[in-house]
Amino acid sequence: MSEAKRIDGKAFAEGLRARVAAKVAKLKAEHGVTPGLAVVLVGEDPASQVYVRNKGKQTVETGMNSFEFKMPADATEDALLAKIDALNHDPAVHGILVQLPLPKHMDEAKVINAIHPDKDVDGFHVINSGRLMTGQEAMIPCTPFGCLMLIKDTLGDDLSGKRAIVVGRSNIVGKPMAQLLLDANCTVTIAHSRTRDLADECRRADILVAAVGRPHMVKGDWIKPGACVIDVGINRIDAPDLGEGKTRLVGDVDFASAQAVAGSITPVPGGVGPMTIAVLLANTVTACCRALGIAEPAA
Ligand code: GUN
Repeated sequence: MSEAKRIDGKAFAEGLRARVAAKVAKLKAEHGVTPGLAVVLVGEDPASQVYVRNKGKQTVETGMNSFEFKMPADATEDALLAKIDALNHDPAVHGILVQLPLPKHMDEAKVINAIHPDKDVDGFHVINSGRLMTGQEAMIPCTPFGCLMLIKDTLGDDLSGKRAIVVGRSNIVGKPMAQLLLDANCTVTIAHSRTRDLADECRRADILVAAVGRPHMVKGDWIKPGACVIDVGINRIDAPDLGEGKTRLVGDVDFASAQAVAGSITPVPGGVGPMTIAVLLANTVTACCRALGIAEPAA
């Protein structure tokens, strides 16, 4: 078996951002509107600060308005809810994202569900989960939506009848990913920590999406020859081979053994990771067009 095709999420995300920028330019020229994305960061988690900075930078690079709000780690939940309420009513803001995780004293579900569902560009609001589940027009969570784009770009748009397995059942990735694959007429299995004979389940799948947060869990001999493997994991592990105290990012899939069996596979980094913000920008354009009742421009 020859080596798997590497699915280049970085390049796909660049293309997607260019299409978003083209749509933004048309919205400005034809409708005089600039899509706006508001990001709220509570506290000083270093990883979250990096995410938020990158989101702001890429929002501006695609021609959209970026609004950033920082609140201290000890801000009250009421203060955050008041901020969200103001953004819900601000016509210049078409998308709202509250960076997760939130400080422990806040109720994450309550905060997310305070965002107006039509501005919920993360697609985490219970209304959007329900809309996705029932086939209604929804905001779709960015990471699984990005995975679906990579799968279709690799295998073609018609996924009918393919066996798919999603390893992981989070609300943010696993469950919406399974729903998107089901909507694409795949036969879908959702596997998790209690799944019996997980390797056997995985070996049946034409499409395998790993989203469990466990470094190198999926081995090459778990993979059906020729399968499309999407690795959502971003795990930082010690890398003494790089020097003392050094670390590296690895996925949930053991890339070295998997690439010898899979037909196509996303690397970590450079696979799914770069897709998330690009899809967030695309979702913001979608939210803007829906808010104004105009058709989304072709890119
Ligand atoms: N924290 C890490 N990833 C995400 C994301 O996609 N959305 C939000 N809101 N918070 C995150």
